[in-house]
Amino acid sequence: YIAIMGYGVVGSGVAEVINKNHDSIVRKSTQSELEIKYILDLKDFPGDPNEKLFIKDFNIILNDPEVKVVVETMGGLHPAYEFVSACLKAGKSVVTSNKELVAAKGCELLGYAAEHNVNFLFEASVGGGIPIIRPISQCLAANEINEFAGILNGTTNFILTRMINDGMAFEDALKLAHRLGTVRFSERDPSADILGFDACRKVCILASLCFGKHVYPDQVHTEGITEITLEDVEYAKDWGGVIKLLGRARKSEDGKHIYAIVSPAFVDHHSQLASVDDVFNAILVRGDAIGDVVFYGRGAGKLPTASAVVADVVDALKNGSKVHDSLFWQPAEPVEGMLTDPAPAAYYVRAAGVAPAVVEAIYGRGRVV
Ligand code: HSE
Repeated sequence: YIAIMGYGVVGSGVAEVINKNHDSIVRKSTQSELEIKYILDLKDFPGDPNEKLFIKDFNIILNDPEVKVVVETMGGLHPAYEFVSACLKAGKSVVTSNKELVAAKGCELLGYAAEHNVNFLFEASVGGGIPIIRPISQCLAANEINEFAGILNGTTNFILTRMINDGMAFEDALKLAHRLGTVRFSERDPSADILGFDACRKVCILASLCFGKHVYPDQVHTEGITEITLEDVEYAKDWGGVIKLLGRARKSEDGKHIYAIVSPAFVDHHSQLASVDDVFNAILVRGDAIGDVVFYGRGAGKLPTASAVVADVVDALKNGSKVHDSLFWQPAEPVEGMLTDPAPAAYYVRAAGVAPAVVEAIYGRGRVV
């Protein structure tokens, strides 16, 4: 049996996928049966096909030894953290799509999972339906991953695409996102998307996994897209590229430092990331043996995200009490300040009414348009 905590967009998608593809999921999970026993949610869902499964008391799940895997799709840090910790300590595997939880508490929760011989899996927390956590931890295990860069937020990529392709102003593109229902991709508080916090959490999860040390969101300089104007988009076009909200991280050459950032960036037309539009996500990972690999697909939405969650449920059931030991990282090392890359980089500065010569004098040689 499994239980679902949180029947929002993703949680209801998980129930839908399990009910729809029930037989093949049972076969792949090498179980004789798979059933959702409980759905925990504070709201009522009269008329819902799963109506009989709803409960409001978390302890029913915690104290039921028949529940082997718990799906956490509640979002937010509390009480998700308390519930997930309790489940792992009670010997239940947990599968989550909650990036805020993994970014803040991943190291600790992986520790509880290892201690209690269960799995803590979170494929859906980055890139929605795109397989990225398992490929990094397993398929690319032979590589030292030195760096990655990605478009990690569907809502902001949708808004930027409207600005770039349709000449729409930021505010209008944001309104359109809501009107067209793209809002179902956005966070409960959409400022987490447009201010870059959602992408930041995903960068932290990927960086922790790639580089083996926990990276916390408050160590990562994070800028969203609220200040991007159509003029910036036009300048980018003139320069031969597009503006994308990128989450990036790299390891220093000596391997001792991790640098990470979330910010709008110019992306050259030749880059594969330049043509990633609408709510799609893409993550470019650079390994020392494989070179560059790009993972592309639907980074948000009900069924794509549910697809990743259910794959983790299958994995957890199949593994039983065998822990995924390739999925781990160490606690963070104490770092002073932010993990901003000290290497020189090109910046774009737009200053109205300043003579090009003055800009050059302040910022050094560059292309002044
Ligand atoms: N709000 C997120 C996005 C949802 O727009 O990409 C998926 O994490």
